[in-house]
Amino acid sequence: MSLFRLDASIRTEGSTSRALGDIVEAEWRAAHPDAATTRRHIGVEPVPATAWSDSVAASMTPESERTPDQSAAAGLASALTDELAAADALLFAVPLYNFGVSQHFKSYVDLVLTDPRMAPGALPATSGKPAVLVTVQGGNYSAGSPKEGWDHATAWMRRILEDVWQLDLEVVTREFTLVGVNPALDQFTELADELKLRAEGQATRHGRSLDRFPLAA
Ligand SMILES: Cc1cc2nc3c(=O)[nH]c(=O)nc-3n(C[C@H](O)[C@H](O)[C@H](O)COP(=O)(O)O)c2cc1C
Repeated sequence: MSLFRLDASIRTEGSTSRALGDIVEAEWRAAHPDAATTRRHIGVEPVPATAWSDSVAASMTPESERTPDQSAAAGLASALTDELAAADALLFAVPLYNFGVSQHFKSYVDLVLTDPRMAPGALPATSGKPAVLVTVQGGNYSAGSPKEGWDHATAWMRRILEDVWQLDLEVVTREFTLVGVNPALDQFTELADELKLRAEGQATRHGRSLDRFPLAA
C-alpha cells in the first residue's frame, strides 16, 4: 500500500491545511505503519510556470523534434502521473487564495492533464482510487454568509478530482482559519472553534476510510 500526498500551502509553519492533512495521513498510516508515502510540496516547490505550455507543445511535436524544455516538461508530466498511478490512496491539501484555486495547484493539475494517461477523454490512471481533498479558507463562504459564492476554488477542485480524474473523493473543509489572526473576525471565535473541531472530525473519519478498496472502473 502507498499514499500520495500533495500540500499546496505556501507556508510550512502554522499551516492549517497541513495540520488537517497530518490527521488524515496519521489515520491512514495507523493501518499501514510501514507503507511508503510520496510527497509533493507544491506551495514551496512549485512546478515551473512554463512547464504546462512546453508540455502541450511537446504533445504536438514528434519526440525527435522537441526542444530540451519541451522534453523536460513532458518528462515531468509523466513523472507526476507515475506518482498518482502508483499510489493506492491520495491526499490533497489545498488552501483558498484570492477567492480562487491556488495557482500552484492549477499549474500542477494542468501539467498532469498533458500526460496521455490523464488527458480528458482517457480512462484516467487515477480512476476509482480513494482520495481526500482538504481545503481551508480564511473566511467563510457558506450559504447565507455575506460572501456566499466567492469561493471559486472548491467546485473546480471537485470537478477535476471527482469527475475528470474519477477519484472516489471525500472532502474536508475548514472555514474561518483567519479567526484569531485578523482582529476584525474576533466576533466569530466560538463558531471558528466549532468549525475547527468539525473539520478535525471529518479528517479523522475520512483518513480512516481512505483505506477502502478502489471503485471498479
Ligand atoms: C495571499 C493570500 C490570499 C488569501 N486569500 C484568501 C481568500 O481569498 N479568501 C479566504 O477565505 N482566505 C484567503 N486567504 C487565507 C488562507 O486561505 C488561510 O490563511 C489558510 O489558512 C491558508 O492555508 P494554510 O493555513 O494551510 O497555510 C489568503 C491567504 C493568503 C496568504
